[in-house]
Amino acid sequence: MADLLEVVEVRKSYGGVQALKSVSFSLAAGEVVALMGPNGAGKTTLVNVICGHTRPDGGVVRLDGRSLAGMGPARVARLGIARTFQNLCLFDHLTAVENVAVAVGLGAYRVSDAILRRWAFRAGEADILGRAEKVLDAVGFPPEARDLTPPMLPYGLRKRLELARALARNPKVLVLDEPVAGMNREEWPAIAGLIRAVAASGVGVLVIEHHWPFVQQVGQRGVFMAHGSVIAQGCWSEILSPREVVGRGLGRADGVGAPVL
Ligand SMILES: Nc1ncnc2c1ncn2[C@@H]1O[C@H](COP(=O)(O)OP(=O)(O)OP(=O)(O)O)[C@@H](O)[C@H]1O
Ligand SMILES: [Mg+2]
Repeated sequence: MADLLEVVEVRKSYGGVQALKSVSFSLAAGEVVALMGPNGAGKTTLVNVICGHTRPDGGVVRLDGRSLAGMGPARVARLGIARTFQNLCLFDHLTAVENVAVAVGLGAYRVSDAILRRWAFRAGEADILGRAEKVLDAVGFPPEARDLTPPMLPYGLRKRLELARALARNPKVLVLDEPVAGMNREEWPAIAGLIRAVAASGVGVLVIEHHWPFVQQVGQRGVFMAHGSVIAQGCWSEILSPREVVGRGLGRADGVGAPVL
């Protein structure tokens, strides 16, 4: 059977800069893969190609064996790829629960899902808000903060809110761009547990994260990029150890990849 997500020989240049030089990897349903690499390695460009924000110069991305060529972000999202952004992307004038409710509504109208569609036609606003509350429960978002707008929330809660919004769309593939950036280390186990639970439900999760110790908690496999190419990929034991990463000048000795991993 084909992998859930396949990236095959994807290329992208910006003027003279080859941001992606023939990048290939795959992600199976229920798997967590960590995408790592120094600043400028091409991670965000790759995610933008996967999610339909950036058109590649060559190569193909497939979801469930279907090519996403030529599709924009809205269509890719409807087909089942949800993402969070390196720089948060929330509606600042809506409350937390409303932010998630918007995504629930979008997910409910996915054309390929007849059952959800019937449900959505019957569902009133209260049902959508109720489901938004459930998703917020699932990501551990405190009830007392749900009527606040994003600018009123601490950074860690805004990250959880973005995650809730992505999950509200019932994605097949979830792409997380730096999910614990700006969070305390004490919050990592909860987020790692949440990501593992999402994967256990059958979702394929691609995590871009600078913190090497964190990605080892959540993912079985890593894809390591540098200068627009995949330089190593595989299970943790098969790819670069943190020591090699530091030795090659690609990371820091304290295990924190930033500004590199
Ligand atoms: N829109 C763009 N226009 C021109 N160059 C770009 C554009 N987007 C990315 N690049 C270049 O492509 C290369 C890869 O950038 P990208 O943002 O994908 O790296 P990254 O791995 O996400 O880095 P970081 O860890 O800093 O987020 C860099 O050299 C960057 O300057
Ligand atoms: Mg980036």
